[in-house]
Amino acid sequence: MNKRDRSPRMSSDTSNKAIEHAIATLNLTSKVKLLSGARMFSLWSEPAIGLEEIVMSDGPTGVRGPLVVGGRVSCLLPNATLIAQSWNVDVMDEVGQILADEAEDQQTHVVLGPTVNLHRTPLGGRLFECFSEDPVLTGHLGAAYVRSLQKRGIGATPKHFLANESETERTTVDSVVSDSALRELYLLPFQIIVEDAQPWTIMASYNRINGTTATEHDQLLNKILKEEWGFDGLVMSDWLATKTAAESANGGLDLVMPGPDTPWSRSLEAAVVAGDVTEETINDHLRRLLRLAHRVGAFTGTRTWARNVPSPDSPTRREQLRRLAAGGMSVLVNRDRTLPLRKDSDDRIVVIGRHAIDTVAQGGGSAIVRPPHVISAAKGIIAALGEDRVTVVDGVQTRTQWLAANPDLVRDPVSGTRGARARTFDKEGKLLETRHLDVPELEISAESWAAGAASIELSADLAIANRAKMMIGSRGAGNWTISAPGHSESVRTPFHNGPGGGFFRPKSHAVPLEVEPGARITAVTDAEDENRLIGLVAEPALKNSAAAIRDAVAAAAGADTAIVVVGNTQEQETEGQDKDTLALPGDQDALVAAIAAVAKRTVVVVNAATPVLMPWIADVDAVLFAGLPGQEAGDAIAAALTGDIEPAGRLVTTFPARDGQGPAWSVTPRDGKLPYNEGTNVGYRGWSRSTDKPLFWFGHGLGYTEWEYKKAEITAIQEENVTAVEVTLGNAGGYPGTETVQVYRFADDPTVSPRLIGWCQVRLEPGEEATVEVSCDSRAQRVWHTPPCHWEEITGGRIVVARGLGDVRLELSLVQNTAVTAGT
Ligand code: BGC
Repeated sequence: MNKRDRSPRMSSDTSNKAIEHAIATLNLTSKVKLLSGARMFSLWSEPAIGLEEIVMSDGPTGVRGPLVVGGRVSCLLPNATLIAQSWNVDVMDEVGQILADEAEDQQTHVVLGPTVNLHRTPLGGRLFECFSEDPVLTGHLGAAYVRSLQKRGIGATPKHFLANESETERTTVDSVVSDSALRELYLLPFQIIVEDAQPWTIMASYNRINGTTATEHDQLLNKILKEEWGFDGLVMSDWLATKTAAESANGGLDLVMPGPDTPWSRSLEAAVVAGDVTEETINDHLRRLLRLAHRVGAFTGTRTWARNVPSPDSPTRREQLRRLAAGGMSVLVNRDRTLPLRKDSDDRIVVIGRHAIDTVAQGGGSAIVRPPHVISAAKGIIAALGEDRVTVVDGVQTRTQWLAANPDLVRDPVSGTRGARARTFDKEGKLLETRHLDVPELEISAESWAAGAASIELSADLAIANRAKMMIGSRGAGNWTISAPGHSESVRTPFHNGPGGGFFRPKSHAVPLEVEPGARITAVTDAEDENRLIGLVAEPALKNSAAAIRDAVAAAAGADTAIVVVGNTQEQETEGQDKDTLALPGDQDALVAAIAAVAKRTVVVVNAATPVLMPWIADVDAVLFAGLPGQEAGDAIAAALTGDIEPAGRLVTTFPARDGQGPAWSVTPRDGKLPYNEGTNVGYRGWSRSTDKPLFWFGHGLGYTEWEYKKAEITAIQEENVTAVEVTLGNAGGYPGTETVQVYRFADDPTVSPRLIGWCQVRLEPGEEATVEVSCDSRAQRVWHTPPCHWEEITGGRIVVARGLGDVRLELSLVQNTAVTAGT
């Protein structure tokens, strides 16, 4: 991998002078113009000062490019929680390097990630994109991601600043949060990233915080981020989040996205002329923008781009993405060492479930990328264990909306190749353009080649072997006319509300039809509604749940091991909408229960990013939490199940046992306000103070071996802070394994919640023992007092070494900062 530091360098004196000279060269009109985006994902160039276009792309799990769908193929990484389950900054560094390669290959200067909001309530739709419920874990992982990108000259954008932990009413909701919760929880990941990695940009969120909208929040943006923490980068708005000119310009926002038409392009110049905003404020925004341009090599033309980076489907990438995904998966239950599955046995395996066949590789929303392929769980398990040992049986429906057709099932009527055809027409019905689509789905936006058409037609011929019952229709909002042999209908499919409503969780329409091989299906939509995606639906109609469960049970009864793959889809794990239950969608729980009742051994693979309920947990033999594993999904699941790669992940969020349980639950604002009533008691911090026990603790994960913790000692204390703890442990099981040693601090003061202060990884062979030093972060060992607004260090208390707080292994008491006891 190319690890060269490609960031162009000028000495900071020279660059500061060049920046100041450029600012002095421009008049007010030209300055203000530069402070809004030029397009959806790019900024204006200004040849007069040597400023080139800066290109951005969404990026938490892959560098997508400017189109939400139908753009170029790029690497689809495992989702953020799955990567975070490694608890490993080296893993984050590798993720950053892949993203940097992809960004360089697409000549993209800024990646819009990482997402470092916290897992406050498990209902948050966007949790799949955020690392964890813990601010220090999130901060360290986020800092590693930022450092890794920026050492290659690619800007990173920690987002969304701030208190944006759920999606309901997301553009207007007022998150009502105490100062202590803001400081100890929601600001802390950003603070750690700013202090440890100096990000070049930060994205301000849509919501309000204690009454003030994030893009105008003087206290957060100017006072805390820029003045107190010394952030010298650029604050950009989330897309369409900016509502005002003077208020946001004075409030600390530096750049309004997207452009070109924004509240700033419309009225910021007038606000300066009227004296509501000073020109020095404009200069400061521009200074920050030019500093970014300098850092990414778009100022004075110094940028070079890496060539020949590994392609998304190259063996290098496939190995990396499989390893990263499998290594982050977490073994939640493993009775009688059911896992790993033996490759050398003759046992018959049945793989069951919709998610076995249609494995969900990523969440929904702006984070989506177009992967070269997605290996399904069924395909991966067959490849690992052999076709003769493995039978695959479909499960129950898990979606309420249809996706665009699998390209394997459709052919372009013009070229006859895999995929579909799109034709655009003007108002008079004259053909404008005709193009092949690899994936039968298209974006209608200013960024798309189809922009400006009056109507768009999608068509394909069905590539099925025999007459079959299929769901035929269209995906995406708008007016549609859908036709197939013997069938024609006109429908209006409504939009989802809110920003991105045409892209995220698009609604669909399909009807069951008996169709012949080669049947032509066509869907035509007008261009009345812009900013949406459209697609052609053609997929085999599924059996009803009762019939699907009956067939699966029959197959499971004759097998030695049933692997049931269940999970969420982009209808739950998505931007733009929260969940209202943690129950698996559809009749998946009934499917698992029915299989567990008849199978000799039942292994459940959960293909979801965030907590799900497991009412069948006592009846199954093993549970592997597999996340949304990215493009190599099935191969990674197989590697984890067989132990080719140890699924050494530890949970990054606490799993409730039932809906409504836990310190924070509701995401529904009242009168526009969402009170963060739990204060600092988020996640395990709150759970540890309750008599109610979760299903699984933050930090839980069994791996494949046993760990014996022998002793612990505090080896460094600075003032009141424990800064290092030495832990001796051994691998007492039968497999080589990786342990994540977790160190928590409990305070004597019962009102102070316990917190993770440090962790580290150790890999040991069976029988091996090691002493590791866990360095601990002082920033987790303090509480915020208001008034008088200051940090106070925690004194005394206990140090707890645990595999999640449900499995405490060692405790040390601290009396006046001295370790007085240690034991097993
Ligand atoms: C999301 C951001 C994203 C932006 C651009 C917004 O809807 O909240 O995270 O970067 O769109 O796609």
